[in-house]
This record gives sequence, structure tokens and C-alpha cells, in this order.
Amino acid sequence: MSETHPFGSPVTFNIGGKPYDGTYGESLLEALRRYGYEVPSLCHHEAVTSYGACRLCLVEIVDKRGRRKVSTSCNFPVQAGIDVRLDTPDVQKHRRVVLELLLAMAPDSPELRELAAEHGVQGDRLQADQQEHDCILCGLCERVCREVVGVSAIGMTARGAAKHMGTPYEEASEACIACGACVWVCPTKCIGLTEKDGKRTIVRWKRTLPLAVCEQTGRQFTPQFLLEHYAKRLGGLDPIVFKKAPPYR
Ligand code: FES
Repeated sequence: MSETHPFGSPVTFNIGGKPYDGTYGESLLEALRRYGYEVPSLCHHEAVTSYGACRLCLVEIVDKRGRRKVSTSCNFPVQAGIDVRLDTPDVQKHRRVVLELLLAMAPDSPELRELAAEHGVQGDRLQADQQEHDCILCGLCERVCREVVGVSAIGMTARGAAKHMGTPYEEASEACIACGACVWVCPTKCIGLTEKDGKRTIVRWKRTLPLAVCEQTGRQFTPQFLLEHYAKRLGGLDPIVFKKAPPYR
């Protein structure tokens, strides 16, 4: 990165030859979206650090010397003078291959099938050699759990075909507060959350916790353990929400 532009300083970069204002070092994907350009992605969320796992957010970048490369945009920093080109033949070709690979990892995901169809990909050509056939290993659930919720209940384990997202020793995670943030961000919706008989279960992490009862409405609304986590983290919650909560262990 150039030393003449400190991180966070204003810079001008180009999209398809047209100049735009940006901030040196910000995520190129976020800058493109800010200006209304559509770039597909599955593993990016502005609340967490970029990881570059799904490889869908490809763009072509031409640097000041005219050198061209296809790169993921979520973890590419905006720099002065670059020209970003969307949907070039190279980008489309690479993206289609990526979509085929992702579909092989999670062939039954409606979200993924829809995205693939939008790009003309059927996805019956490849088969993934992995344990689970619904997760694309994008790591978004783990980053949200660690960086936003502040819990770190899950993580990537093993290597090669055995690599997967899971809880320590594959047991019900004691750290999980059943907030459901991982379920909400998962692009293939493979984690699962159920609520039954006053308990919430995060299906994939085998974590079941009783729901606390609101003192005022009498409704079960959220896991007791979650309330205690945030009470500690934020320095206290109104004690009224704890009054009728069942024991959580
Ligand atoms: S959004 Fe950039 S690699 Fe997934």
C-alpha cells in the first residue's frame, strides 16, 4: 500500500473508468455496494472482518500501471487510482466455477441454487468430498459468534475432507447462549433453531436452553443464559426480566 495515503484517508478510485470517492483501506465490496453496484457474496457481513472464503465477490482490478487481476473484493482494500471492472468475461468464468464448487458442497441449499441459476450454473457436475453436504465452510457463523456476540462457541475443526464447523469435541457447547445470530447469518441456512416447550435449541450445536419469561407480558422470549451474558457484558440489565426465569441448567 502506498505511504502517501494513510489508512482511512480519502482517495479517488474508478469503477468502469468513472471516478468515485472512497476511503483508503476500506473494503472494496462495501464501496461498490455503497454506489449501488451489485456484487454477489455469501461470506461477507459488514459487522465482521472479511475472510474471503466463498470467492463469489470477484471483480477485475486494473492498477495504476495497467496490470490486471481478478480478485475477491470483500477483502481487497480501496486504493487511489485503481479501476474496478465488474462482470468481465474473466470474472464471469471464475464465478461460475466457484458457484459449481459451492453447489457441490451444499447441493440442497435453495439460496445457493437460486444464486447459481441466476448465473446460469446447474451444478450437477461436481461432488464435494466432505462430511456434511449443507455447509460451504464460509466461517460467517464463527466470526459473528466471536466478534459480535463475544462468545466463541464454535470453530473450524479438522482438515481436508473432514474440515467442518463445529463445537469443541463435537459436544453441546457450554459457551453457546442460543442467541441464534449464527442461524440468522448462515447463507445456506444449515444450522437450525427450534423453540418448543419453553426451550430454544440450536440444532447443529446441540445446545438447548430454557427461555426466560417476561414479567410484564408472561411470554417466553429469549434464553435466560443470553440475558445473563449481556448483563455481564453491558454491565447490567433491568432485573425485572429475570424474576420469573426458570433455572437454565
Ligand atoms: S464475500 Fe468475498 S469471498 Fe465471500
